[in-house]
Amino acid sequence: MRKKIVAGNWKMNKTFLEAEELIAQVAEALENRKLKDKIVVLCPPFLFLELATDIAVESNFSVGAQNVYPDDRGAFTGEISPPMLESMEVEYCIIGHSERRKYFNESHEFLARKLDALLKHNIKPVFCCGELLPERKAKKHFKVVEKQLNESLFHLNKEEMSEVVIAYEPVWAIGTGVNATSEQAQEMHAFIRGLIAKKYSKKLSGEITILYGGSCNSKNAKELFSNPDVDGGLIGGASLKAEEFIAIFDAL
Ligand code: PGA
Repeated sequence: MRKKIVAGNWKMNKTFLEAEELIAQVAEALENRKLKDKIVVLCPPFLFLELATDIAVESNFSVGAQNVYPDDRGAFTGEISPPMLESMEVEYCIIGHSERRKYFNESHEFLARKLDALLKHNIKPVFCCGELLPERKAKKHFKVVEKQLNESLFHLNKEEMSEVVIAYEPVWAIGTGVNATSEQAQEMHAFIRGLIAKKYSKKLSGEITILYGGSCNSKNAKELFSNPDVDGGLIGGASLKAEEFIAIFDAL
């Protein structure tokens, strides 16, 4: 069954005490809510994953990392491996975020390796894709997203693919306050689902969760989530305040 997910990508924000407070606030708010088929994922910085997984044991949210290195161990100073995440009971990991593609030059091939490494260790990848503004203006957005999926994702077999969550995040919408319109989001999500149907099967395409990300907030979430192919959101800035993040959860 297709899952509905609201995931908070904290990026490089919050100190220890702030993280503790935000996680506690989210946990408390979720205590009084029925999740039904909805999943909440918190993706704090690595340092606070243990804090999050400790609180998650008693609560009903899941924990995700924001990044991973694709080798199991070795001389990669400063990096974190999939077995380390697995040993901390981290269930999800964001990969392919546009900020990592841009600032850390992460290539399609490198992301494909990360995907394989995560799946080998039972961590669900949240694979981000999305076009730049000039690419949309040049009407190349479908081609760009198709290439991102082809080069990093579509080598997976059916079973592996069924573990993946996709997040469509138009780069021009991330942190800008300009979200994709409901029509733009639905159109791209339907396109992505169509590609999965063609490559794998109609059944699998219907089961994959596709999130929208990019300036999603409590005001626009309901409309974005009302689309048949939008299964929730990957939330950046608006996940840093419990009240706002929970309001987005309530909109799903
Ligand atoms: P934003 O970020 O919600 O702050 O636009 C989304 C993301 O980058 O995942």
